[in-house]
Amino acid sequence: MACKALRGGGLAAALLLAGHLAQSQSPPTAAVQEPPRAAACMACHGPQGNSQVSSLPSIAGQPQVFIENQLVLIREGLRDVPAMKGLLEGVQDAEIVQLARFFAAQKPLPTAKGPPDEQVYRRGQALAARGLCGSCHLPDFSGRAQIPRLAGQHEEFLLQSLKQFRDHPGPGRDTIMAASLYGFKDGELADMAHFLAHFR
Ligand code: HEC
Ligand code: HEC
Repeated sequence: MACKALRGGGLAAALLLAGHLAQSQSPPTAAVQEPPRAAACMACHGPQGNSQVSSLPSIAGQPQVFIENQLVLIREGLRDVPAMKGLLEGVQDAEIVQLARFFAAQKPLPTAKGPPDEQVYRRGQALAARGLCGSCHLPDFSGRAQIPRLAGQHEEFLLQSLKQFRDHPGPGRDTIMAASLYGFKDGELADMAHFLAHFR
């Protein structure tokens, strides 16, 4: 299991210099200095990385390795995020590590505007159990290493990213993650997004 989960990170990890990756294993601390470029990120991802826009992911408190991997994948065009491509062009790995360390150290704030619909929540919970989502994302969906936190993420972003993984994951995306959504219908992805966004 653990080895399967690591495969997705393998590609991105290979793109990062070994030294940086080793450095990134240290736990985030509260007093991480804000890198100069972070302000540009917060224009889209919100104050301290807590997104105010439901279609944009919150990156506050995401695992540092996950942020590093995604930034490298986006910079290299292996994950297609047109909004960010220009911004990351020519940004060195060392700066990516700094940005990742900073956002990983920020406190994630809940994104849900109100309480969940209990029926939808329970359906989503059962589907996530069936999909073994917690085996990689952890039972509390807090994520680890190259696997993102899902708990408390924007519902709209979760749904659009689940559809993207199922329908056209792209070359740099984790293949086992995409495979675990095989056969899920739109409504079922929506139930899981609702459950995860409101996770308690
Ligand atoms: C112009 C808006 C914009 C700016 C500026 C921007 N991003 Fe993004 N970012 C996005 C969008 C849009 C996505 C999600 C695309 C998608 O739906 O997959 C994204 C995705 C991400 C992701 C993946 C998150 C996830 O949960 O999948 C990370 C990490 C990230 N951005 C970090 C950064 C950092 C660090 C900066 C500053 C260097 C930055 N972004 C600047 C728009 C932006
Ligand atoms: C084999 C491990 C594994 C399993 C099982 C798995 N995931 Fe993932 N998931 C990942 C990894 C790794 C990523 C990071 C994306 C990448 O590397 O392409 C990810 C990314 C995601 C994302 C994107 C979040 C973001 O912030 O970008 C969502 C949403 C998600 N998973 C939901 C699920 C759901 C729902 C299930 C169960 C049906 C599931 N995952 C099962 C490993 C897994």
